[in-house]
Amino acid sequence: MKKFQIINGPNLNLLGKREPTVYGNTSFEDYLEVLRNQYPSCKIDYYQSNVEGELIDKIHEAGFSYDGIILNAGAYTHTSVALHDAIKAIASPVVEVHISNVHTREEFRHHSMISAACKGVIAGFGLKSYELALLALIN
Ligand code: DQA
Repeated sequence: MKKFQIINGPNLNLLGKREPTVYGNTSFEDYLEVLRNQYPSCKIDYYQSNVEGELIDKIHEAGFSYDGIILNAGAYTHTSVALHDAIKAIASPVVEVHISNVHTREEFRHHSMISAACKGVIAGFGLKSYELALLALIN
């Protein structure tokens, strides 16, 4: 069975409550249940932290045994050299994911510090972005 690690960064624990016009009304836990039911042949693990160092620790932990990592680094996307280096340091492919289309939003969201270290980027498809990333990794 292929196994994938989803990692969500800061403020994504508030999905469903946080800026619903941007991020929707569904909690990540509810979406995850749907996703797991849709892909019963995959093991999908989930981790969320608001702390940059904890995200790095999880990338290190998953990065040598999982078939892929789906990473929504939240605002750290735009600031973190340390996350870029962590992604470069591991063996598993990482897909960068964003719920919103960051390129239609404020200018400070247009640049990602992590894209160049990732296998690919998916942004703007709501929570479906995670499924698209999973499909990319499965294939
Ligand atoms: C986000 C976009 C980021 O700019 C923002 O800081 C987030 C969420 C997204 O999923 O659209 O926290 O990564």
